[in-house]
Parts: sequence; structure tokens; C-alpha cells
Amino acid sequence: MDVVRQWIREARSIAVLTGAGVSAESGVPTFRDALTGLWARFDPRELATEDAFRAHPQRVWDWYAERRQALAGVEPNAGHRALAAFQARHPGRMTLITQNVDGLHQRAGSTVLALHGDLCTDRWLDDPKPCCNRRPPQPGRPPRCATCGNWCRPAVVWFGEALPETELMAAEAAAESCDLMLVVGTSGEVYPAAGLVHQAHLAGSRVVIVNPEPSALDGLADAQVRERAAQCLPLLLED
Ligand code: APR
Repeated sequence: MDVVRQWIREARSIAVLTGAGVSAESGVPTFRDALTGLWARFDPRELATEDAFRAHPQRVWDWYAERRQALAGVEPNAGHRALAAFQARHPGRMTLITQNVDGLHQRAGSTVLALHGDLCTDRWLDDPKPCCNRRPPQPGRPPRCATCGNWCRPAVVWFGEALPETELMAAEAAAESCDLMLVVGTSGEVYPAAGLVHQAHLAGSRVVIVNPEPSALDGLADAQVRERAAQCLPLLLED
């Protein structure tokens, strides 16, 4: 832990990649935890793809509505807060990149590159026509345009969909130019997000993994901190 703290102190620029594990201690389920993970309980092909939504809009909408409701009852934890506090103390030194759609980094006060969208925002399923934005969507599960019937969908990135280009390009630039990449609470199984760690490693940056369990990215690590994020990030990031 002390070596990592020293590396953080010495680093001019730090890129941080977070996953669901950073929100686990806030009570938000991860995706791949064997028992409690969302994908252990639900089939992602039936809930997190455009095809699934077109085939069963109400089922998919209700599932996301349940997750949104659960989010209303949770708070950012000490890990989220430590990252936000570091960014505030050292402006421009840390680029925070997240796969999370829960908005907890943002609620803790962080500036983030959100690669997988935002669970609490809607967007149109099909490219909107002038009618779609003329008035609020017609209520329903899901809501839809009263004129053309275009559905509203959660503004998250579903499997098989492209990541937002601006955020991805900025994340890649941060991975390429950082001195140190901190990888917190991700299984490292989903690309292109996990590819950022390979990019940082290939560019010669130090890679530190914070995860109580082994992850698919461990082979790239210069150090591994087998701790939970809310327990160790405040210590790692204090000046
Ligand atoms: N602190 C740190 N890490 C933790 C904690 C904790 N308290 N609790 C669990 N973890 C670790 C787990 O060991 C696991 O390696 O967090 C990781 C969570 O992995 P996943 O559930 O696979 O989540 P993530 O890596 O964010 O998934 C990536 O997959 O399903 C898609 O779009 C979704 O953004 C998501 C992407």
C-alpha cells in the first residue's frame, strides 16, 4: 500500500478506470458477482440489448425503472468521495473514467468520462423526428412519442452498441499519457473499456489494480491492492 501511495504522490497525471465494484459498498449490485451480480440473476441478452428492448419494451423498461428506484436510495461512499476530493485538491491531475451508469461519482462531485452512459437519463430509441421533441413523451412503460410512437429508452450503452465517441477518445488520450493508471472495482472483461488498461500498460504507465478478487487485468498490474474500494481509496489518495 505504501509503495502505491508513493507512486500516486509522484505521478504528474493519473488516469482512473472504475467499475461496478466501486459502488458495491453503496449497496449497488455489481454485474458478475457469482451470487448477487445482476448477470447472475438476469440474462443480459434479454435485458441489455436493443433487440431485447424492441421485443419486450415493457419488461426491459420495468427492469431499468427498478434499478433507477434502487439508486434513489443509495449514496456515494468513501471511495467515490476520496476520488472527488483528490480531483478538487489537484485540478487537472486526475482523469476519472467510469463504466458505471449509477451517477455516484458525479453525485460525489467528480468530473467523469462516463463510457457506458447514464441510467437516470432517457433518450429516443430511433432518431427523433421533429414531432418527438415537440412536446413531452406520452407516459407509459416505456413512454413514447404521441405522434410517431418512437420509444424512450434508458441512455445507457447496451451490449453490441458503440461507446460515446467524445468520451472514449478522451479516455484513450488519458490512458496513453498518464504516469499511473488506477483500476478500481472492475472485472476487466468488457471491451473497449478494459482495453484502456492495455493502452496505459503499453504506453509505459504504472498500472495499479484495486480489487478484493482476481480480475482479468491482473497480468498488466505493477501492483495489486486486494482491498475494497471504500476502505482503501481514502488512504491511497490522501496527500
Ligand atoms: N471494492 C473493489 N472492487 C470490488 C468490490 C469492492 N467493494 N466489490 C466487488 N468488487 C470487484 C469484483 O471483484 C469484480 O471484479 O468489482 C468487480 C465488478 O465486476 P463486474 O461486475 O464485471 O462489473 P464491471 O467490471 O464494472 O462490468 C463492466 O459490464 O455488464 C457490463 O456495462 C456493464 O459497465 C458494465 C461492464
